Amino acid sequence: MKENLQFFQAFLKNPLKVGAITPSSPELAVKMLEGITPNENNIVIELGVGTGAITKFLQQKIPNNESYLGIELDENLVKTLKMRYAALKIVCGSACEMVSIHENSGLGKVGAIICCIPFVSLPNEVGEQILLQIDKFMEKGGCTFRTFQYAHGYYMPSAIKLREFMRNRYGISKRSALIVKNVPPAYTLTWEN
Ligand SMILES: C[S@@+](CC[C@H](N)C(=O)[O-])C[C@H]1O[C@@H](n2cnc3c(N)ncnc32)[C@H](O)[C@@H]1O
Repeated sequence: MKENLQFFQAFLKNPLKVGAITPSSPELAVKMLEGITPNENNIVIELGVGTGAITKFLQQKIPNNESYLGIELDENLVKTLKMRYAALKIVCGSACEMVSIHENSGLGKVGAIICCIPFVSLPNEVGEQILLQIDKFMEKGGCTFRTFQYAHGYYMPSAIKLREFMRNRYGISKRSALIVKNVPPAYTLTWEN
């Protein structure tokens, strides 16, 4: 409940950057993490950690604190996350700088990117910058990129642009069935290279 309130406060402060009124549901979180098995040589980066709705499930899959890097823009959210997930490396910063954030972290090769960035409500140039950063990890190979898109925003130009960007490089996504137990309902999309 406290988590929902904090998320809603973050939304009121910055609706376009937060991009949703409630955190992801457990059903969406579990789907986002299906088949993801991080370790220190194959770490997972979580983009847009929010209040940790996905982190809560991800931490059960993380063998040690060398296997995870979280990046979240909102400094109030990061303060709470650092208390709640004290063992995890969570950086207050932008996904636009994820390559340098990862370099500075000293952590190992990136095997998975779990992305919760609200591309649909961000300025185009920010979305493009983030995709180019993600691609720096993907193009090396051995990396899975997974994100979710809300059903109501699926045909919005920036949602289509993301899919085209990834499809042109890594083929058609694996799309989940619609996760109706989420507000709003969403699909997960996965590309592997
Ligand atoms: C839709 S919420 C998802 C939060 C959480 N992962 C969940 O699933 O409930 C999007 C999150 O992305 C963060 N965010 C937006 N732009 C960002 C950026 N450029 N870099 C890092 N985080 C960003 C927002 O502050 C917000 O916490």
